[in-house]
Amino acid sequence: MVNIGTLFRECQSVLEAARIPDARFDAMCIFQDCLGDKNPLFRPLEAVNPETEAKIRAMTERRLNGEPLQYILGEWEFYGYPFKVGAGVLIPRPDTETLVDNVIRLCRENKITSPRVADLCAGSGCIAVTLKKELPLSEVFAIELSQEALPYLRQNVSLNEAAVDIIEGDVLSDKTASGFSGLDIVVSNPPYLTADEMNELQEEVRREPSMALAGGGDGLDFYRALTPLWKGALRNGGWLCYEFGMGQHDEVGKILAGNGFENIKFTRDLGGIIRTAMAQKTEENNG
Ligand SMILES: C[S@@+](CC[C@H](N)C(=O)[O-])C[C@H]1O[C@@H](n2cnc3c(N)ncnc32)[C@H](O)[C@@H]1O
Repeated sequence: MVNIGTLFRECQSVLEAARIPDARFDAMCIFQDCLGDKNPLFRPLEAVNPETEAKIRAMTERRLNGEPLQYILGEWEFYGYPFKVGAGVLIPRPDTETLVDNVIRLCRENKITSPRVADLCAGSGCIAVTLKKELPLSEVFAIELSQEALPYLRQNVSLNEAAVDIIEGDVLSDKTASGFSGLDIVVSNPPYLTADEMNELQEEVRREPSMALAGGGDGLDFYRALTPLWKGALRNGGWLCYEFGMGQHDEVGKILAGNGFENIKFTRDLGGIIRTAMAQKTEENNG
């Protein structure tokens, strides 16, 4: 039987040879998952049973074929919570933790203890579930249209025991938006890649659903449509919180201001990129 150390070196080197970025990290995640051990390399001489070896080899092969590591593992962490992922749902990104941080801070600073929140384009549910866990008195609605993403959303709500209301619906439809009123927060990480970016996707990202990525020619279709549509669902003093792509802040700011939102604030993600905007609906601008 092959031992852990030998098999690890073999898997790492085939991933490296195929120019998989972060080959060692990916190999380590696969070994941790299959061996149920955070530090499998602490016992390099231990034999790997044939069943586990076959599983490790199969997962390594999937990675070699360009499948995202997160889909292969079937679960990924966001804000310290586990989320089931796989083909059909966007993998939660660390950038989006900035958006979640903003909403939490906004509620705390404004003493909104039991916020009513709608998460538009909920996907895996990483935003909605995290907000419900971090703000337990909140009422959170997660709205998603994709039939492929919805099963993951349902699974993640129950996996995390988060009492989130799931709504199957089109966030671009007046029928969906008009079903809401008096919300404290509307939060969204909508699809925002431009047509050019969609044509130049990395192999891994190409495996993610285009419905989760494509934001129209300039990537801003959702911001233009959602901002006026969901303004009516916010209470006076309520906030609209968006994530967007690198370089889109000026245009998103103009869309928010053009729709009468005030107190527009931008924040940077951990990589220093301006990544989110928060904007307030005030009494003066609620027309
Ligand atoms: C960028 S992903 C964000 C997913 C998740 N909120 C996150 O941050 O990881 C956008 C999501 O919007 C969903 N979506 C696209 N068009 C939609 C629509 N018209 N109505 C509702 N959801 C939509 C996609 O299926 C996808 O799950």
